[in-house]
Amino acid sequence: MKKSIILFLAISALSSCAQKPQQEPIDINPGTYPQIGHVTGRTGICLDGQWNALVDIYETGYYSYRRTPIPVESSWFKDRSYYADPTQLIEYDFDAAPTLQVPGDWNTQRPELYMYEGTVWYRRKFDCNPEEGKRYFLYFEGANYETVAGLNGEVLGRHEGGFTPFCFEVTGKLKEKDNSLIVKVDNRRRPENVPTVNFDWWNYGGITRSVHLVETPESFIRDYSIGLDPEDPDYIKGSVTIDGACDPGSVSVSIPELDLLIPVAQDGSFRVKSSPERWSPESPKLYKVCVSSSADSITDSIGFRTIETAGHQILLNGKPVFLKGICIHEEKPSGSGGRASGADDARITLNWAKELGCNFVRLAHYPHNEDMIRTAEQMGIMVWSEIPVYWTIDWTNPVTYANACAQLEDNIGRDHNRCNIIIWSVANETPVGAPGRKEFLYGLMDKARELDGSRLVAAAMEKAYLTDSLATINDAELFEKADVGSFNQYVGWYDGTPEKCNHVSWTFSLDKPVIVTEFGGGAKYGYHGPDDWRFTEEYQQRLYTLNLAMLDRIGPQLAGTAPWILKDFRSPKRALTGIQDDYNRKGLVSEKGEKKAAFQTLKEWYAGK
Ligand code: GCU
Repeated sequence: MKKSIILFLAISALSSCAQKPQQEPIDINPGTYPQIGHVTGRTGICLDGQWNALVDIYETGYYSYRRTPIPVESSWFKDRSYYADPTQLIEYDFDAAPTLQVPGDWNTQRPELYMYEGTVWYRRKFDCNPEEGKRYFLYFEGANYETVAGLNGEVLGRHEGGFTPFCFEVTGKLKEKDNSLIVKVDNRRRPENVPTVNFDWWNYGGITRSVHLVETPESFIRDYSIGLDPEDPDYIKGSVTIDGACDPGSVSVSIPELDLLIPVAQDGSFRVKSSPERWSPESPKLYKVCVSSSADSITDSIGFRTIETAGHQILLNGKPVFLKGICIHEEKPSGSGGRASGADDARITLNWAKELGCNFVRLAHYPHNEDMIRTAEQMGIMVWSEIPVYWTIDWTNPVTYANACAQLEDNIGRDHNRCNIIIWSVANETPVGAPGRKEFLYGLMDKARELDGSRLVAAAMEKAYLTDSLATINDAELFEKADVGSFNQYVGWYDGTPEKCNHVSWTFSLDKPVIVTEFGGGAKYGYHGPDDWRFTEEYQQRLYTLNLAMLDRIGPQLAGTAPWILKDFRSPKRALTGIQDDYNRKGLVSEKGEKKAAFQTLKEWYAGK
């Protein structure tokens, strides 16, 4: 009991001292347990379903009327019930509360929550059979934005960031019957957050991804990494992380199809000469791999490939590859929209990308759910994975930097074994020259390379004109640091009309592969008219035709493209009644899955690549 009170107070104290210059490392996610690899491949219970939920816009369940944190005892973590004893003064009751679907955002589940930004409390009751000698973890695949979780009246910890997984160890805290899991989720935007207050997508709130109760042996395989040795791809190498006591000689990795049983060294590392069939978009070969120790084992599907640059080329498995891409936001492919989750949503969306002829997707601007990554891996689609360091982040705030680092670490921590991820992106369209930006982004790029030296590191930069008709990347310091020159450009939409493309050519100061990570313009499906009327399908199609011709003129240094965007998506920044209606209309497919004319234009261009 005492520990949870201290924890509760510590949590609220942290947020109040975020502004002070910090010496000691900042723990953005107090109480959380490190990443557990491949949770869905482990024993456990999935806690998805209808959860009771209470909307608490004034955070009455958490703060006193003096806006000071209230003791856990009288907080809503206690899950008390008025109707169980009407003599008590209790002004909430989860049993009587309506429900919300988990996983899911709250915005598309209740009309009154469509634009809601604030706190919602979720409560899930569950039974389980906690066993001696086993360990238990509550694993959240993702919840937006700030989450505080409590179990059976004890606060477990806090997590910040809407798109990365987090978990809490609950060994010894479980009962057989009627466990009360209470989760406070707050999606309010704040300047120091990542992303900060202004972004061009809907701020969907809630427990947007699945929740699991994971059971492991006392000593278990917490994580593992397996891939080709980037220094010498004739070798498979990796490491296994065990949590708990373990007879070092008992750990091994087996790949039956390659007839491999690889012993793991005392320090957790392993390396063996082997030439597995390489994963590629044409042949997305995955191998069954089993990692085992004396007490535990876990099986995963792993692909092997190399990705590197050579001059201005990107080499996949040593051969030049052109990234035929498209950008995607994590929204449901149909119905009421909202945050997508699960393999079915992923497959529908990725089938559209495949139909376009894509071998690459830029998942913008935040880590998408694990099902999306794994489904793309099975379908042979390479991935650009990004953390939401977007536009005007609070560059000089150490709490913001710690937050961005934690999100990068968790993103790489979850997906480092997904061979289809070829690029880690640390930012999108950030202001060149902003005080603190260079240190911030250089720090993230160094961290990404430190955590994973086998992939490319990048950021989506912007363009600038050297002359009226000669354009380039306007970010020398990031271009220098990154492995590729990736930039967004909107010639023909934010910058002139489509005809302008005919007069613009490109030059780049460094001999690195260039990827155009955004271009395009809006169109409302079914809205037809002269091709100089914005938002008509004709305008969008003409813009694509002339943009693609302009990009073709870049020549061999152009190593990939990812137009903005596959499908229309919700954004509160899009207010043109009758056309946008809260949707960014730059999709090639409408929110109802209807293909616009420009879809065919891009498809034909990719067919020629
Ligand atoms: C920007 C940004 C996107 C945004 C797009 C647009 O470049 O990166 O997030 O949605 O442009 O304006 O449509």
